[in-house]
Amino acid sequence: MDKLSITGGRALHGRLRVSGAKNSTLPILAGTLLTDEPVLVRNAPHLHDVTTMIELLGTLGAQVVIDEKLNVEVCANNLTQLCAPYELVKTMRASFLVLGPLVAKHGKAQVSLPGGCAIGSRPVDQHLKGLEVLGAKVSVSDGYVYADAPDGLIGADVYMDLVTVGGTENLMMAACLARGTTRLQNAAREPEIVDLGNFLNTLGARVTGHGTSTIEIQGVEKMHGGEHRVMADRVEAGTYLIAAAATRGSIKLVDVEPDTLGAVLEKLQQAGAILTIGDDWIELDMQGKRPRAVDIETTPYPGFPTDMQAQFMALNAIAEGTSAIRENIFENRFMHVQEMNRLGADIELHGHSMAVVHGTDQLRAAPVMATDLRASSSLVIAALVAQGTTIIDRIYHIDRGYETIEEKLQQLGGSVQRVS
Ligand code: EPZ
Repeated sequence: MDKLSITGGRALHGRLRVSGAKNSTLPILAGTLLTDEPVLVRNAPHLHDVTTMIELLGTLGAQVVIDEKLNVEVCANNLTQLCAPYELVKTMRASFLVLGPLVAKHGKAQVSLPGGCAIGSRPVDQHLKGLEVLGAKVSVSDGYVYADAPDGLIGADVYMDLVTVGGTENLMMAACLARGTTRLQNAAREPEIVDLGNFLNTLGARVTGHGTSTIEIQGVEKMHGGEHRVMADRVEAGTYLIAAAATRGSIKLVDVEPDTLGAVLEKLQQAGAILTIGDDWIELDMQGKRPRAVDIETTPYPGFPTDMQAQFMALNAIAEGTSAIRENIFENRFMHVQEMNRLGADIELHGHSMAVVHGTDQLRAAPVMATDLRASSSLVIAALVAQGTTIIDRIYHIDRGYETIEEKLQQLGGSVQRVS
């Protein structure tokens, strides 16, 4: 099993290109199932989760061609089955996003229920409730969700009880081919939802209001082929900015979308980072100074993202002062705390949702274990700061969401090797 070996103590400096967004690519690839015509998805990142989604499309019978620049062309005109099997859904929850497109286009679908997840229970009740409101008959048995709408879905008002990114995406895609108008209320406003809406519109859908809490979708009879470039990955961008700040370095990120990073950039400024921001680039400079501790509370977009909570905790662990971090989205997203404390951090947990971080001026290397994707990247940040060589085990989690992380960190001067 691959591990990362990181020798800490070097400030990150240099220039880095940000990859396409994982959390945008996954729903967009699911959305290619809405049309019989070929769809070209550009700027997809080379990641494990993207490969899993491509494998799922192939299992359904779609033809998928990937070129050397990782542009993915999907043609779903001849599906051979409408079932997403447990073997694939259990390895990646985002597989559940094929449910909406399949039932909308083919009148039926069978998708395995995602199993448990390291960061929380993550139910899919809002996805299912919404599909029922759109007229599908939904049942659950033997670990599978069966959705039937032989005469097609019918547009309706759907009120989501809580803000869910995946639920909004699944229902948005389903509603594209429903008869009449759907209004999704209390919808998620994440930039990835905006990207998905724009993508669906290039295929002939009629989606408006994406990026606000009410999304309106006027159903169309048929969607056509098209081409879309996936947005930049805001979580990858934020992770490298935080890593540079933690190591007291200075970096320039290019091919980034600064508007999608508002809450994170504000917290970095509070931590002492000097930021210069262009249309598609961000420069961060710590001027060699130790960061200041900053309180964080995760909320749906445009609030501070749960996907960047762990990384900011690593920054706070070596910052000057004490900070409080509240996690409001997932009930088990503090698994990195014990591992960071092994590196000499001083973090107390108060229940499932609150951590108090007492900044220390030096972390020390230790063997640690990655437990989920973003927890893993927080350990990478802590290791980049720690004195000595840290070995991070189980880094397959990192490969799900960070494209060639060791090469990108080497490019910035980090001492990072992949070892087996
Ligand atoms: C997406 O997950 C992201 N994944 C996650 O990124 C991200 O952490 C999360 O949104 C929140 O921003 C992808 O985009 C592929 P949710 P998703 O539905 O859609 C509860 C990463 O590290 N809920 O917005 O699964 C749920 O349990 C990953 O890249 C219900 O109760 O998240 C959670 O507490 C991890 N019922 C909250 O809502 C439902 O039907 C938000 O979940 C759906 C969700």
